[in-house]
Amino acid sequence: MNETVSPARGIHGVISVPGDKSISHRYAMLGSIAEGTSNVFNFSSGADCHSTLACMKALGVSHTFTKKEGHDVLTIEGVGLHGLHRPAAVLDAGNSGSTIRMLSGILAAQSFETTIAGDESLARRPMRRIMQPLTEMGARITAKDGQFPPLEICGSPLRGIDYQLPVPSAQVKSCVLLAGLYADGETVVRENISTRDHTEIALRELGADIQLEPRLTRLRGGKQLSAKTLIVPGDLSSAAFFIIAALILPESDVILSNVGLNPTRTALLDILRSMGANIKLLHVEEANGELTGNLQVQTSRVRGGTIDGALTAAVIDEIPILAVLGAASQDGLIIRNASELRIKETDRIETIAENLRRMNVRVSTTEDGLEIPGNQRFHATEVDSHGDHRIAMAFAIAALAAEHASVIQGAEAASVSFPEFYETLRHATR
Ligand code: S3P
Repeated sequence: MNETVSPARGIHGVISVPGDKSISHRYAMLGSIAEGTSNVFNFSSGADCHSTLACMKALGVSHTFTKKEGHDVLTIEGVGLHGLHRPAAVLDAGNSGSTIRMLSGILAAQSFETTIAGDESLARRPMRRIMQPLTEMGARITAKDGQFPPLEICGSPLRGIDYQLPVPSAQVKSCVLLAGLYADGETVVRENISTRDHTEIALRELGADIQLEPRLTRLRGGKQLSAKTLIVPGDLSSAAFFIIAALILPESDVILSNVGLNPTRTALLDILRSMGANIKLLHVEEANGELTGNLQVQTSRVRGGTIDGALTAAVIDEIPILAVLGAASQDGLIIRNASELRIKETDRIETIAENLRRMNVRVSTTEDGLEIPGNQRFHATEVDSHGDHRIAMAFAIAALAAEHASVIQGAEAASVSFPEFYETLRHATR
């Protein structure tokens, strides 16, 4: 599908974004293996989280969506740690790396065999990073060419391990912790660089035997989880597109309501503010151990700078839209230590660079990053998402700053995390 995006002077009003994708995946999985009925408010509308729900359904967990007091509520009938059933067919994770990597931790411990696969993009994403620790725990997994989906997982009894993450990945950390729920003894996960901690927080909320320390988590297996009412905050990574649109367009003043502000996710806000962005936090609250709040963002002169090291890992999902900001910034943006971008839904170093160049924006790439000179204009043209949701949305925002209308090819990819994106954009722009 092609979407035409016209230039805009600014972003206005109050915008709400879908429920956080990372948290929704975790609530779908943990609600399914908890004992009792969980009601989940503001579950992500994105296709990725619905892939997780469909997998859980195929494993015997029923769920319904209803409206309660004007809110959409997902009700999950948890079956307990040992209540999943062998699925009748191959599990389909769709486009979702989180689904396949995290769910594999649960599947590895079942008393049956499963095969889990996904779309063409997922079939190219490396799985050795989860196969290695799961195998150490006693799992039996085979993959295409030893590392790609489909994964054939033959459930086995697992034992706890002490695991140092070789890459900063919350998906891998979560996979090991989910397997740890079933494992004999204690599972310890250590990280050099902090990654998002939604799994640890959710496990604590649902009553797991878990201890959280900085960059270290201990979990004792065998304890049942208890169902709970869960509220998903809005997704800061989705809000990022509107935050940066507001910053770069000349006449913006917008509120992003009810956005997740977990400190492992807010490096984006710190970076932007340190570069001169006018972003205010209003009305911060907590629910289920997760912070949420409203953000007010106004047009700002953003300096640009360098993002590297642990900071890169903390904003890895926001790099496509940060690259767009970089071109519009005063001094440009250098992104380093971002080799993980090459194994996301697309090789994002290449898909970002290709689309910037289509818009006549100068950029150079390195093995693990991008260099984007500042003070550049976006030339209206056709850009291509290559089926990657964050590329589609980032370049729709770049198109707002061009002189004429642009076309986003493969625009439908946005629905992986934000099906309402273009409608929200049309309402918010002037
Ligand atoms: C996610 C972790 C990150 C992130 C992805 C969602 C999660 O991936 O890029 O979009 O929900 O745990 P990695 O774990 O591969 O870094």
